[in-house]
Amino acid sequence: MAERRVKDSFTSNFGMVAAAIGSAIGLGNLWRFPYLVGQNGGAAFIIVYLAITLLIATPILLAEMVIGRRGGGSPRESYIAVSGRKGWGVAGIIGMVTCFMIMSFYVVVGGWTVKYLLLSLSMAFSRGAQIDSVGLFSGFVGSSFPPIFYAALFIILTVAIICVGVQKGIEKTSKLMMPLLFVLIILIGIRSVTLPGAGAGLEYLFKPDFSHFTFDSLLAALGQSFFSLSLGACMLITYGAYTPRSSNLTKNAAIITVSDTFFAVLAGCAIMPAVFAFGINPSEGAGLVFVTLPQIFTQMPLGGLCSILFFIALFLAALSSSVSLFEVITASLMDICRISRGKAAAITAVVLTLTGCVCSLSQGVLKHITIAGMNIFDQFDYLSSNFLMTLGGLLTVICVGWFVKKPAFMDEITSGGTVKVPRPLAEILFFVIKYAAPVVIIVTALSIIF
Ligand code: TRP
Repeated sequence: MAERRVKDSFTSNFGMVAAAIGSAIGLGNLWRFPYLVGQNGGAAFIIVYLAITLLIATPILLAEMVIGRRGGGSPRESYIAVSGRKGWGVAGIIGMVTCFMIMSFYVVVGGWTVKYLLLSLSMAFSRGAQIDSVGLFSGFVGSSFPPIFYAALFIILTVAIICVGVQKGIEKTSKLMMPLLFVLIILIGIRSVTLPGAGAGLEYLFKPDFSHFTFDSLLAALGQSFFSLSLGACMLITYGAYTPRSSNLTKNAAIITVSDTFFAVLAGCAIMPAVFAFGINPSEGAGLVFVTLPQIFTQMPLGGLCSILFFIALFLAALSSSVSLFEVITASLMDICRISRGKAAAITAVVLTLTGCVCSLSQGVLKHITIAGMNIFDQFDYLSSNFLMTLGGLLTVICVGWFVKKPAFMDEITSGGTVKVPRPLAEILFFVIKYAAPVVIIVTALSIIF
């Protein structure tokens, strides 16, 4: 077991779990999951998503935490410490780059959530309000200055939490925000499922129809599982290094997965019944949350209140995920450049503001700049989700399966023999990490490429 390099750590296991759930629950759950469900045949997609998450994603999540807690440093340091080879440091740097790419478009959408939260607070979406939600959204995201202003605001909020530190910033805010997030989504869900005509939405979510399910849906389910659990970008390696030695990592992995998945399904229950109650096509796509929902709020009893609750939830979910992405970059820079937390956070913020601007403008004035038919914003999303996170996940399982090896893996998940993990379960987890996960990831990657 390597000596722990990080100074600031989580004070309790609950703090660690709350922060990791904060990272996992984000725009992926509220913005992406519902529209992917809508585009890929409802319940059929959910079933496959659940299977992939349980069988493949959870063991990878555990593998990341093993590297982090055993290595006890930044992702780069942890990879080197657990593998005993300097070359593995590259895997940590790839993770940092991945987070940077995700963050570049994530803060733009984060900025949109701030804008929509303020709009909802001004009662713009209350019942009877006349809005052209399509024009409102496309006019806003396609303009130059306003979305950049809101993205900058979102970055400042993230940096503020990061600068306060792991314990007082990340841990404290996560412990507050996570329970609140569940309360909010449950309240909205209750409103949504009690609308007349909501039953069709529930049926859509829970009655499988495999006729819309294609091979691409399978890939989408795998990609979404990775994105939603924040895998393949060293997030759990970074948070793993802040985890108490006594924590039961296997149990934590289960709690994090179940919470994130449960939240995604709750988000589906909050959104789909309302979409069906108002006779809207569920496969609307990425505009579902920012275009369709505002329209629905203006027609729904208690719509104004629901819009406020919804956009608070969306904002908090985005913020806590953004904090985790930012922390991976900050922790990495602190290690690589040997600088203080404040300096590392400042550098990250400045560079991120620039790349965030480019992503934001690519929805408007820079729209004509496309790479392989996608604007820069979509390209960042595509490259990080389909390529970099997959690569990161592969490196993680190879490192744990083939370099950390079984005895050290067993030692880490049992915290040196003090935590009980049923032997058959531990064997299965290690088998998945060593053989099954690499095969699944490689096959998926090849099928995306060809
Ligand atoms: N999981 C987050 C979401 O669902 C996104 C996210 C946060 C993320 N941190 C990450 C994705 C690290 C990959 C890696 O919105």
